[in-house]
Amino acid sequence: MVDDTPIIITSTNRFGIDIEDADSTPADPFALLGMWLPDNTDDLRPLMTLSTHGPDGYPDSRHLLLSAFDGESLHFHTDARTRKAAELEADGRVSLAIVWVVEGRQLTVAGDAVRVPATEAALAYAKRSRYLQLLAWLNTAEMAQLTRDERVAAWNRWSDEHPADPLETPATWVGYRVVPHRLTFWRGDADGPSNRVEYTRTGDGWDVARLPG
Ligand SMILES: Cc1cc2nc3c(=O)[nH]c(=O)nc-3n(C[C@H](O)[C@H](O)[C@H](O)COP(=O)(O)O)c2cc1C
Repeated sequence: MVDDTPIIITSTNRFGIDIEDADSTPADPFALLGMWLPDNTDDLRPLMTLSTHGPDGYPDSRHLLLSAFDGESLHFHTDARTRKAAELEADGRVSLAIVWVVEGRQLTVAGDAVRVPATEAALAYAKRSRYLQLLAWLNTAEMAQLTRDERVAAWNRWSDEHPADPLETPATWVGYRVVPHRLTFWRGDADGPSNRVEYTRTGDGWDVARLPG
């Protein structure tokens, strides 16, 4: 029998609301961010670009799912054997970017990525779709060398042998949270110039600046 359950592999930008008065600047950037982002329980997660520092000095970017926003940091999960994980161990300074193409919004963040405890990462793993749980077990360097047919066969075999729901958390599963020190909210405007509101962390609060698009 064909399983026609949709596989959630990717993400969406359909979410979030904005403040009604675009001229007002909430004192707390996280209050605004909380409005722009979907609820953490939404299965379709936002896609964000994560840029790290490569050892060769070049920025290194890739897209990840935003697993959750806890009110003051942005969480993502990955494999401890990846290049990004090695780069983050050497230098936790990162940049994030999320775009809302339809709504005409963008968020860019500069901040510091911090590893979350394994117990916390395991809770996030258990909430991922079965497809993504399998991916965390099976997206290995060895698997990458196989042909597509071999990869699909190995995937199905492993899945059949491991029906548990949720699967056990792989030891290679790691989570990070990014603590922002700068957040820049960009709003497009079909009737005029785009506009940005930028928050930079000070000792105990935020400096707020209006910037051109
Ligand atoms: C839509 C989409 C979602 C992705 N989500 C994740 C994710 O949440 N975690 C992850 O480690 N990789 C994710 N990836 C794969 C990464 O972009 C990247 O290829 C992989 O993590 C290896 O990156 P690295 O070699 O730079 O460390 C996603 C890719 C796409 C296109």
